Amino acid sequence: MKALVIGGGGREHALVRALSLDPGVTSLHCAPGNPGTSELAENHVINVTDGLAVTQLAARIGAELVAIGPEAPLVAGLADELRRRGIPVFGPDREAARIEGSKAFAKEVMEAAGVPTAKARVCRTAAQVSEALDTFGPPYVVKDDGLAAGKGVVVTNDRKAAEQHARECGRVVIEEYLDGPEVSLFVLSDGRHAVPLLPAQDFKRAYDGDEGPNTGGMGAYAPLPWAPPGLVEEVMASVVRPTIAEMDRRGTPYQGLLYVGLALTSNGTRVVEFNARFGDPETQVVLDRLATPLGVLLQATDTGGLGGVSALDWRPGAAVTVVVAAENYPGDPVKGDLVGGLAEADAVEGAYVLHAGTAWSGARDVKANGGRVLSVVGSGADLAQARERAYAAVDRIDLRGSFHRADIAEKAALGED
Ligand code: AMP
Ligand code: GLY
Repeated sequence: MKALVIGGGGREHALVRALSLDPGVTSLHCAPGNPGTSELAENHVINVTDGLAVTQLAARIGAELVAIGPEAPLVAGLADELRRRGIPVFGPDREAARIEGSKAFAKEVMEAAGVPTAKARVCRTAAQVSEALDTFGPPYVVKDDGLAAGKGVVVTNDRKAAEQHARECGRVVIEEYLDGPEVSLFVLSDGRHAVPLLPAQDFKRAYDGDEGPNTGGMGAYAPLPWAPPGLVEEVMASVVRPTIAEMDRRGTPYQGLLYVGLALTSNGTRVVEFNARFGDPETQVVLDRLATPLGVLLQATDTGGLGGVSALDWRPGAAVTVVVAAENYPGDPVKGDLVGGLAEADAVEGAYVLHAGTAWSGARDVKANGGRVLSVVGSGADLAQARERAYAAVDRIDLRGSFHRADIAEKAALGED
């Protein structure tokens, strides 16, 4: 199979890596990719929101699978264009991707499908905002209705900060606060059948102890030793199958990956959010554990072949990823500094470096080029060993002003949630 991965972050480096380990994948391309993907795939520098440029590239290389990593091209309708030209694609069409592109639409689908989620109101005016904040009380949860790369959500006890965020966003969704640990469950769907991957946990806040602003994700681990038995089956029955049936009923079948963000609250399991693509950085750990070849699975989401797949194979053990972020992330990150120690970090047993926000500086050096610069993965017999390896590798990275969380998977390695 000739495969093309669209995107250039840590998630896409993980996808390229997993596809490179699939014996069925004979030729591997990435657009635009990053210095890390260039070691495993041929990178093509194109604008990935330009549908024509992507379809031309896919046709030229004879792609039998185009796997779209990020949400922006999905919401812009890239999958529709590829499907129209008969090119097999991993990722939902524009209408189905609205499940991530509009929080209000996602809530509407959940309501129609009877999916348990936080009570919410869509607000446009200051008066509506004020009334919703009164209704739900603190902590206040205020979400930008549109795409915001995981950074459009403010959770705060400060009423003024909640009101200010609502003013800045315009149309917002205000909802009840969900307590309890969060779980990310990824599910492959061909529009009718759904197959779950391994649940993972992400760390959304910038600093240790879940302090600081929300980010795209500062680290992740899988599996979750503390997760209640039967969690995946419960979520498939109460969330995934009803949602996929509802999307099909609306004439916009959901083909690709459904990211189910969950909170395990004291009142039961609730959906925090849906995304229309693999999560970053959870993908880095989930794909590290996957033993089933990835290429055919992704292709089957397009061709309707998931009905024949009952369960996937997973490697025993655990994986942890730690994000190395640039100074000032998630604000305006400092770019351009050289990243040292990459080879040394890769040399740590059981660890490897995935590039997230990097670019070439000259022919051989790598520089920081984004907020989340690297996603360092450690894998091992258990979470404790995976953590140890990930952090040993992170310690070898040299990037001026960079920071990382020191507590990724710390509690889970001790058996807590
Ligand atoms: P979202 O973009 O909807 O995933 O929100 C980003 C993050 O904000 C989530 O991962 C949670 O950590 C937090 N969050 C979102 N909604 C809620 C909620 N209703 N209650 C508590 N925390 C939330
Ligand atoms: N890690 C959160 C996300 O990908 O949305």
